Amino acid sequence: MTPDLDAVHQARRRRLTARSLIGGDPALRAAYRLCRRTTRRHDPAIYVLIQLMPTVLRPAGWALWAAASVLDDLADQQDAEPADRAARVEAWAEALQGDLAAGTSRDPVRHALVDTALRWRLDLSGLRGAMSSTRDDTHGRHFADWAAWRSWCSEEVLPWADQVRHLFEQAGAPMALRLDRQEDYARFVDGAQLTDVLTDLGSDLVQGRLLLPQEALDAYPGAEDDLRLRRWSPAAAALIGAMTDLARQWVTRPAMTRGMHPGAATVLDTSACLMRAQLGAVDAAGPALLKRSPRPSLVTRARILAPARIRSRLAWSLTSLTVPGPRRSAVTASAPDPAAEDTALGPPPPHPDGARPPRIAADRMPSHVAVVMDGNGRWARQRGLPRSEGHRVGAAAAHEMVYGALEIGLRHLTLYAFSTENWKRDTGETSTILEAIRRDLDEGPIRDLDVRQRWSGRPDHLPEELVQALQREERRTRARTGLTLTVCINYGGRDEIARTAAALAEAARAGDVIPRLIGEDDFARHLPHPDMPDVDLLWRTGNEQRTSNFLPWHATYAELYFTPGYWPDVDRRDLWQAITEYSRRQRRHGAATLISPRQPPPAPSRPI
Ligand code: IPE
Ligand code: IPE
Ligand code: MG
Repeated sequence: MTPDLDAVHQARRRRLTARSLIGGDPALRAAYRLCRRTTRRHDPAIYVLIQLMPTVLRPAGWALWAAASVLDDLADQQDAEPADRAARVEAWAEALQGDLAAGTSRDPVRHALVDTALRWRLDLSGLRGAMSSTRDDTHGRHFADWAAWRSWCSEEVLPWADQVRHLFEQAGAPMALRLDRQEDYARFVDGAQLTDVLTDLGSDLVQGRLLLPQEALDAYPGAEDDLRLRRWSPAAAALIGAMTDLARQWVTRPAMTRGMHPGAATVLDTSACLMRAQLGAVDAAGPALLKRSPRPSLVTRARILAPARIRSRLAWSLTSLTVPGPRRSAVTASAPDPAAEDTALGPPPPHPDGARPPRIAADRMPSHVAVVMDGNGRWARQRGLPRSEGHRVGAAAAHEMVYGALEIGLRHLTLYAFSTENWKRDTGETSTILEAIRRDLDEGPIRDLDVRQRWSGRPDHLPEELVQALQREERRTRARTGLTLTVCINYGGRDEIARTAAALAEAARAGDVIPRLIGEDDFARHLPHPDMPDVDLLWRTGNEQRTSNFLPWHATYAELYFTPGYWPDVDRRDLWQAITEYSRRQRRHGAATLISPRQPPPAPSRPI
């Protein structure tokens, strides 16, 4: 992600100022000034954090935050009906697309944002989901549980925070999270959002909003009614106390910034200190919380900020930042517009023999097919070729699965590409497999199909570029509605179960679940992909009859299907054959009479 060398110059931060970076365009300078004022007014805590960034990055920080604030304001305008507010948010987001293509805007906040994006090579397409989520806020929010609350947070807040991370990365002071700290980071952002929700509780309640999950409200009987009536009661106090404890836990992630650039680490660590101070102010406010947003005292803030300013100044003065040269023109710099791309999503290429999928009755179609793609090595050996050749041809077979799945109308396809046990192979082979997957994500033929791509597995030991490409594709394709393709890379079923157990243990410690009442649903909600449906059909090629640590939770009732051929020899017709075979199976799920293949099993009773 380092900007082109000919487009940047290296310079000591102290010789560069925001003024020298932005240049002499008065309209642009006024636009950035407005963004600065908007950030300071809307979110003073964010404003002081931006002041801890190197001078050259601050205008970009203001532009990003001002844009988020403007959208929030549009969504909140009390003079308008929800539908009108939603339309205003939508119009703003759409205008941004046009402005990005034009390289400028008549709206000052968008003008600064477009300039920031082009100057720092930010791909703002990642914000589209966040903007849609802000638009949907206008119709009110209800979260059944913490899982729903967190997915709102990762949809609406995380993409903005990610832009700031990219900014640091582009400047050569990456907020590089150790890959095993990504979850810490997501939790930290959840904590920031919970802190905001608690701080603004009073004004939200005036507008009829209570942005806490039902699960949390129900744990304190009476608290919800009291808060909605803006009545401070013991139940309401207990609820708020538990929420501030939880937020404090979430924002306290000491290991997250270990090994990070000290300037970037100071920004994150200081934001954690400020949030804890903010939560202290919420605790201290008591009934006043229902009237106004509490703030920590000036003395408390100064105690946090004075040493942070010294630390950050020192860190940046020792750092050689990469600062963009002249802005790239919009034509070359505008990132491809995924929405425009998505309207042009094409059908998969036809099978070379013109084969078409069989007709399967809707109630006989599996919802979810999972495949152990095995036999690449033996296929190559049979032909006197290196194993890498088997993996190369195997990748084309994986594309065929996606084409076949789209053509037959399958909803979920999960492919096992690399297991946690595959590290036992020599590094030449593991790197070939992983590099081929990364190339496929960057330029493969699945990119332009109606496929929502997801990744399941552990990040550690994987090359960082691969993890970034996986996350990028997940973001880029998340609005697609055709096939959900989950690729399992560095995936182990037992690891998934152990991680889920750890998440449940955390939830129990935080008081979100009661250990003795944990049932299958609670477990499923804490899986890394809680919305992944049960596997209906598990197919393995390569003449082996085992599941090799693949999807143990989801596949407990899967129909198993083993075929002798090696993976590189399969094509979409084999997937159709597997589905046809499945449609003839009789599934009972423990009952005495048959049920149709897709009928869900009766709900298990919860342990009491
Ligand atoms: C499956 O093929 C691909 C991966 C496990 C990555 P194999 O590489 O296991 O092929 P065989 O089983 O050795 O033939
Ligand atoms: C399973 O295949 C893993 C993948 C297909 C990615 P393996 O070839 O690694 O499994 P075993 O060694 O036969 O169990
Ligand atoms: Mg194998």
